[in-house]
Amino acid sequence: MKIIIINGPNLNLLGKRETNIYGDLSFQDFFEDLKKKNSNIDLDYFQSNIEGELIDKIQEVGFSYDGVILNAAAYTHTSIGIADAVAGITTPVIEVHISNTYSRESFRHVSYLAPNAKGVIAGFGLKSYELALQSFCS
Ligand code: DQA
Repeated sequence: MKIIIINGPNLNLLGKRETNIYGDLSFQDFFEDLKKKNSNIDLDYFQSNIEGELIDKIQEVGFSYDGVILNAAAYTHTSIGIADAVAGITTPVIEVHISNTYSRESFRHVSYLAPNAKGVIAGFGLKSYELALQSFCS
């Protein structure tokens, strides 16, 4: 089972950024722990603040991996390019968010990605990623 977590802009600041919303754990620490707990899964991680790099990575993995767990962060609400990349690949994509985007500002209620995602998981903190991983493995 080959799965990748792809994180979009500002998620490199997890643990330092708006900790009241996103928590105080860095993604590196969370990811190391997740890998240890799921040693049977070949789990990769990629983060970029740049829209085109996210699209390149989605295209690169999107015909060979078993699953993509995608938190496109702010690009979720703006990027037709990332939406088209998700629509264009064969690997299933689960959209995740740390926060419950539906309980926040109205511009966060819109996702251009969700129509082509296998599912959406939002609001469970970093556990959202873990739930997405579980769903690929069940
Ligand atoms: C986020 C929610 C987005 O609205 C926001 O722009 C983010 C993080 C989340 O994981 O809760 O950067 O995707």
